[in-house]
Amino acid sequence: MARHLVASFQWSSDVGNEIASSLGFAHVILESKQFPDGESYIRYPIDITTYDGLILVQRAYPNQDTRLFQTMLAVDAARDAGIKEIHVVLPYLPYSRQDRRFRDGEPVSLSTVLTLLSSLRVSSVITVDVHKPEAFRVSGVNCVNVEPFELYAERLRGSKNVVLLSPDLGSLWRVRKVSEYVGIQYSYLEKFRDRITGEVTMKPRELDVAGKEVFIIDDIIATGGTIIEATKILKSMGAVGVHAMATHCLLLNEADSRMFEAGVSSITCTNTIPTKYAEININQLIVRALRELIT
Ligand code: R5P
Repeated sequence: MARHLVASFQWSSDVGNEIASSLGFAHVILESKQFPDGESYIRYPIDITTYDGLILVQRAYPNQDTRLFQTMLAVDAARDAGIKEIHVVLPYLPYSRQDRRFRDGEPVSLSTVLTLLSSLRVSSVITVDVHKPEAFRVSGVNCVNVEPFELYAERLRGSKNVVLLSPDLGSLWRVRKVSEYVGIQYSYLEKFRDRITGEVTMKPRELDVAGKEVFIIDDIIATGGTIIEATKILKSMGAVGVHAMATHCLLLNEADSRMFEAGVSSITCTNTIPTKYAEININQLIVRALRELIT
């Protein structure tokens, strides 16, 4: 195997450390700062010219724009240093929800991000539970979506009186996959989002949740609006507990407090974004994906 280096930004060093020690590679933390005018500066603290491959780890939330640009600077510097194989690990992929043009005149922002990385000639982009896997691809780059569902299933194994629920049809495949591991029944709600105001409305379907513990599984909790609306409906249908499980917990504007006020019993997230609810560590799944990628 070629000689690889793992380089991470300070706020992602826990992920970088675990990847490096699992794969037996050296790990460095990139120097980074903002100039007084807000522009980004990054630097590798060691001579990287002797390495064949680089695994660059960046938790690109919060400060998505800055962190994406830092990532691009780091990729370009590594290319300049002659590194041939560059794998970029972005556990949370910013802009992944703008994966199509919802209104005329909009960019497909996900595609913009991937095109920029592709133009810098990265070998692969690895992320976790991307919003819509079919939109996560760009020519010239291997786009790898790491699915956390086996870890969700582990937490649910042995639970009684449980229903898995997708808050919308678009996420139904997630609960189906969790269910394939643990054999728990699943269903979904019908959700509508106003593309201008962002307001979420939901329609209950024929669901039997009375007396059940419902686990809502989703990729992202941002404003919490989706989970809150779903919780109101599920409670009115007699659910005894409503639990939120999501991969990326942005929890904007104290979404967690508002979710608990609305009757959510628990919140469980992964460590793609470090919060107090990040009980599921996905680092080893990223390691597994990298083992298949590195040459
Ligand atoms: C949307 O399709 C996503 O899967 C999530 O349901 C959504 O992004 C959650 O956002 P919020 O917490 O703001 O409702």
